[in-house]
Amino acid sequence: MKVHRHQFDAVVVGAGGAGLMAALYASKQVKTAVLSKLYPTRSHTGTAQGGIAAPLGNMEEDRPEWYAYDTVKGGDWLVDQDAAEILAYESIEAIIELEHMGLPFDRTPDGKIAQRRFGGHTRNFGEAPVMRACHSADRTGHMILQTLYQQCIKHNVHFFDEFFVTDLILEDGVVRGVVAIEIATGDIHVFHSKAVLFATGGAGRIYKVTSNAHSLTGDGMAIVWRRGLPLEDMEFFQFHPTGIYKLGILLSEAARGEGAVLINDKGERFMERYAPTLKDLASRDVISRAIYMEIREGRGIGGKDYVYLDMRPETINRLKSAPGGREVTPEYLEQKLPDIIEFVRVYLGIDPMREPVPIQPTAHYAMGGIPTDVDGRVIRDERNTPVPGLYAAGEVACVSVHGANRLGTNSLVDLVVFGRRAGRHMAEYCQQADFAPLPPEPEAFTVEMVERIRNGTGEERVPLIRNELQETMQTYVSVFREASGLETAIEKIRELQERYRHIRIDDKGERFNTDLLEAIELGFLLDVAEATAFSALNRTESRGAHYREDYPKRDDENWLKHTLIWRQDGRVTFAYKPVVITKWPPKERKY
Ligand code: FUM
Repeated sequence: MKVHRHQFDAVVVGAGGAGLMAALYASKQVKTAVLSKLYPTRSHTGTAQGGIAAPLGNMEEDRPEWYAYDTVKGGDWLVDQDAAEILAYESIEAIIELEHMGLPFDRTPDGKIAQRRFGGHTRNFGEAPVMRACHSADRTGHMILQTLYQQCIKHNVHFFDEFFVTDLILEDGVVRGVVAIEIATGDIHVFHSKAVLFATGGAGRIYKVTSNAHSLTGDGMAIVWRRGLPLEDMEFFQFHPTGIYKLGILLSEAARGEGAVLINDKGERFMERYAPTLKDLASRDVISRAIYMEIREGRGIGGKDYVYLDMRPETINRLKSAPGGREVTPEYLEQKLPDIIEFVRVYLGIDPMREPVPIQPTAHYAMGGIPTDVDGRVIRDERNTPVPGLYAAGEVACVSVHGANRLGTNSLVDLVVFGRRAGRHMAEYCQQADFAPLPPEPEAFTVEMVERIRNGTGEERVPLIRNELQETMQTYVSVFREASGLETAIEKIRELQERYRHIRIDDKGERFNTDLLEAIELGFLLDVAEATAFSALNRTESRGAHYREDYPKRDDENWLKHTLIWRQDGRVTFAYKPVVITKWPPKERKY
């Protein structure tokens, strides 16, 4: 195998919103490279639909403090409140910065950035929904990604497109770079650097029904875990309430922000019972659980395992569920939600302006990930000791600003606010640090892994193991969990990890070997699933997206703390970190 060497001060892995924002800021001061297994503008940020929050107050009164509080409450008090305050206060500047970069936000008639409602965002500490989500129709993530990519090109960031990072070079606790496979040639590339930032996104592909792209295989999380670093709060995985039935494709919460409602088989707007104040705009964990309760109690449509999202103008007008009870027309909705209306027409063959849409909760977002401080520095233990030169931002990271459940729109805010902070800090670090020497054969781990997979002659097949993993996670580590199911999942994951050692792939070639790449990705998925299932079994309470049927109450006395999980010699160990509480002591979460 051919091995190439490069040297950059800073290497960013992943070209979604967090990676690009970090690269943009780092590249202003130090030589920065971005490595992405996709062409950058295909990154998953581009699929984010409904909006990015900021308390601009363009449509009605709003305040950063209300926003920070909503974020803490939405996260069921597991949010580090210093991070929530940073998110809320810095979101305003971040949105204005994006606007000045040229992002085409929707506008109010008087030319301000338009805003809409989203779940869990309220005025005056929970009184009523507030319009806080800035948006570009339902293509907000696409616009952010394009805007940031253009800025990176303008500022001469070095891009290595379709480079698949497989390993972190970490010696004596100090970062020295990464190893990647060039997908086009199969060559190995060693990037020697002073700092590395992971921004590889989430791991939704551990589940069968997910809104996540096929590329979201938990690469960054698995890579650092394999290098002996911990992952944080992996038990918290968010299911977005409105995925297209069976397909999981996202139908933005913005639909409900514009007045759409959830309906059961009896035609009831059932969220009125579960969340009397915010109804269909309660937080996602609450709504996803409510949907499954309706299904369990036989009120799924036709007794099946789905309910309806009703976004017909006729329904919205009859229920007066649009903001301010205003009338909506099909033309208005087509303008505000063009993509999701099109998705329903294309994937289900029905017209959502005339018929309700079958939906089910879809695995959407990992609240947990690589633990970091508010400057994106990866920490190695419960004492918050930073790993020199190692950074993470975006979904792969756990700041923790989302706690046990993320509010809609907060992933995009997280990307730009904490991506920028991490990029700045990384640049400062690189300016004062020297290059730590590379070990003799930094590529050895990757070369050995590639050879083992390419030359494997076992009977096991990658798609079959992946399907069994996704089925297991969907069944046992889903919206509802309990001990025996989680134990079954762990046993199955262990079995699949063993079988994974005996895989055989068909493509033995070097160029664009997607067979090989998918096999490596499956290894990452298995690791992330292991961390998720063990963490879920370990936390014997219910909080946010982690609902234990055998422990249905939140238990602040024992569990108001973050989980750190490590794997050493095939065994997992845990430690705990206190939650940062600045202003809002925990209280019961009511919507
Ligand atoms: O519903 C949505 O548009 C998704 C937004 C988010 O996950 O933040």
